[in-house]
Amino acid sequence: MAKRNLISVLDMKDEWQDLVDLAIKLKKERGNHGAPLAGKTLIMIFEKPSTRTRISFDVAMTELGGHALYIDASNMHMGHGETVEDTAKVMSRFAHGIMYRAYDYKVMDKIGDTATIPVISGLDNLEHPCQALADMVTIKEKKGTFRGRKFVYLGDGNNVCNSLLYSCAIMGLDMVACCPATRMPNAEIMLGAARIADANGSKITASHDPIEACKDADILYTDTWVSMGDSTPQEKAIKMFSIYQINSELLALAKDDCIVMHCLPAHRGNEITAEVMDGPQSVVFDQAENRLHAQKAALYSLLR
Ligand code: CP
Ligand code: NVA
Repeated sequence: MAKRNLISVLDMKDEWQDLVDLAIKLKKERGNHGAPLAGKTLIMIFEKPSTRTRISFDVAMTELGGHALYIDASNMHMGHGETVEDTAKVMSRFAHGIMYRAYDYKVMDKIGDTATIPVISGLDNLEHPCQALADMVTIKEKKGTFRGRKFVYLGDGNNVCNSLLYSCAIMGLDMVACCPATRMPNAEIMLGAARIADANGSKITASHDPIEACKDADILYTDTWVSMGDSTPQEKAIKMFSIYQINSELLALAKDDCIVMHCLPAHRGNEITAEVMDGPQSVVFDQAENRLHAQKAALYSLLR
């Protein structure tokens, strides 16, 4: 069988729902997986810092019987005298999978196209598919069903937002991307997600009005206002995004059982208040834990 990547949510679109279910099954079976990835090595290359992605992939490989190798991209020859393509070919001779966190999605794509082993994105400037997969696991656990539920993303239309657009469309959630006009999600992704949603009977919409958007929401979601690699000054970000902060006033507009999500790391007082982040409707730490289970599902499907 040809090798497959998980660089965009679209790469595993047809299995997205099965991956969510597999993650929930693996979560229940934690400690009893056997060793389905025995003898397999995942090379993890990071161009940017990480807490969750690095640790959860490493633990996932260990618990599936395999091995993960962490590499700081600045200590490789790639980009300083060795081409991306040569690096991808060499890695393909050593290991069984590559997890890559990149600044530039074009470099991610180049590795994905050249490597003969599966390449999984640990985030780039366009998408964060593993985050979105874990988020769908969390919603399934907390809400049981997807269809007809209102998912509101508030803040910067960034990589996380882009992958959530595809994921919500696939799962049948109605997603509102509520962002400033200058920071809307990627237009092509928004359009692609809207097409998937159309075929699915769900809706993808854009809004600049958080008060309107949050009304009757089932899920409120936010992420940092300044992503890694984004040079927007902090003061400018605060001006641009402050009306999109998830706080108790916006949360009061949502349904009583609305859950609050954040991919973390969080900046209390900016995109979310401490009161909401640490309050009873926040599910952020279950959400973080689900990175482990979701990535096990992806690793099991791609590397076995
Ligand atoms: N959410 C997420 O990807 O976190 P890290 O940057 O810590 O990996
Ligand atoms: N949008 C954020 C996500 C961090 C997990 C970033 O790219 O920095």
